[in-house]
Amino acid sequence: MPAALKVLDAVARRHDITWKYTNFDWGSDYYFEHGRMMPAGGVDQLRPFDAILLGAVGHPDIPDHTTLNGLLLPIRRAFQQWACERPAKLYEGVRSPLAGKAPGSIDLVVVRENTEGEYSQIGGFLYQHTSDEIAIQTSVFTRLGVERIIRYAFDLARRRNGKKLVTSITKSNAQGFTLVLWDRTFAEVAREYPDIRSESLLVDAAAMNFVRRPESFDVVVGSNLFADILSDLGAIITGSMGLAPSNNLNPSREFPSMFEPVHGSAPDIAGKGIVNPIAMILSASMMVEFLGLPAAAREVERAVAEVLAEGKTLPADLGGKASTSTVGDAIAARLS
Ligand code: IPM
Ligand code: MN
Repeated sequence: MPAALKVLDAVARRHDITWKYTNFDWGSDYYFEHGRMMPAGGVDQLRPFDAILLGAVGHPDIPDHTTLNGLLLPIRRAFQQWACERPAKLYEGVRSPLAGKAPGSIDLVVVRENTEGEYSQIGGFLYQHTSDEIAIQTSVFTRLGVERIIRYAFDLARRRNGKKLVTSITKSNAQGFTLVLWDRTFAEVAREYPDIRSESLLVDAAAMNFVRRPESFDVVVGSNLFADILSDLGAIITGSMGLAPSNNLNPSREFPSMFEPVHGSAPDIAGKGIVNPIAMILSASMMVEFLGLPAAAREVERAVAEVLAEGKTLPADLGGKASTSTVGDAIAARLS
C-alpha cells in the first residue's frame, strides 16, 4: 500500500490531481484488538468516498472465513460491486511458466460476477460439531445478476483492443439449474452483439485451455467462484500473483467501488519488505481509470511496464532482488 500511494502521488503531480486519503486500520490487527475486522457501521463510514483502495486481508491466526466475511465480502455486497475485472497480461521482461510465450501474447481479462452465485453466503449448520453434522450452502443465480455481468463482458470486449471474443465459463453439465440459466442468458445476450464472437466452455476445459492456448482468450466471464479460480490461473501464466490487479465495480456509481490486488496477504513473506507491490500499484491504476482519469492511469501502467521491461529493479517473485519499496520507488521515479 505505501508503494501504491507513492505512485498515486507521483502521477497526481503530473496531472494536477489532488487525492484526499483517509486511512482505515481495519483488518487482522484491528481484529486482535477489537474482536472484529471493522467497526459496527464500518460500511456506512465508507459510503461517502469515491473509491476504496484495499490491501490484502488475512492472518494465519484467524480463520479465513472470519477475516473475509468480516470485511472484504460484506463491502463487495453492500456496495453492489457486482463487476470484477481481473486482467492478465504477459509484460515484456516477465517470464511465463509456460514455454515459448512472447511478450503481449497472453492478454486476457477475467470478468467475475462479484455479488451472488456461490458467494451468496446463504446456508447454515445443523447439529454442529456432532457426528450428525449437516452443512448447507446455497448458490444464488438471478436472471438480473447473470444478465448484467454477461452484458458487462460483451461491452468490455467492444471497448478493448483485443480479439473481440467473450468466453463464458460454467459447469452446466453438472449444475443443471443455475448454470443452465447462465448458459441460456449468455446465448441470448450474445445475439445482441453480432460484432463480438462468443464461446461457451465448461470450467474444467477452460482450466486446461488457459494452459494449452492462453493466447486465444480475450474476455472471459464466469460466476463468482469459477472466475476466482481462473483469475489465479491467469495471474500465474502471466508471471506472478504479484502482478495481478483487480477492481470491484459498482458500475452505476451509486456506491464506491473498491480496488485491490488479486493475491492474499502472503503470511509466509509478510513483513520482510520483499513482496511485489505491482499488483497493488496496477489496482491503483484501475482506480484512477474508473475515477475518470484514463491518461493518468495509462501512465502508471506504462511506468510499471517500463520497469519490468528494463529488468533491473525486479522483486523476488520475478527473479530479482529489489525490495518492495525499491520497486515502488523505481515506478514512481518514472512518473516524476
Ligand atoms: C479474491 C480472494 C477472495 C475471493 C477470498 C479471500 C474470499 O480469493 O479476491 O480472489 O475469493 O473473492
Ligand atoms: Mn481469489
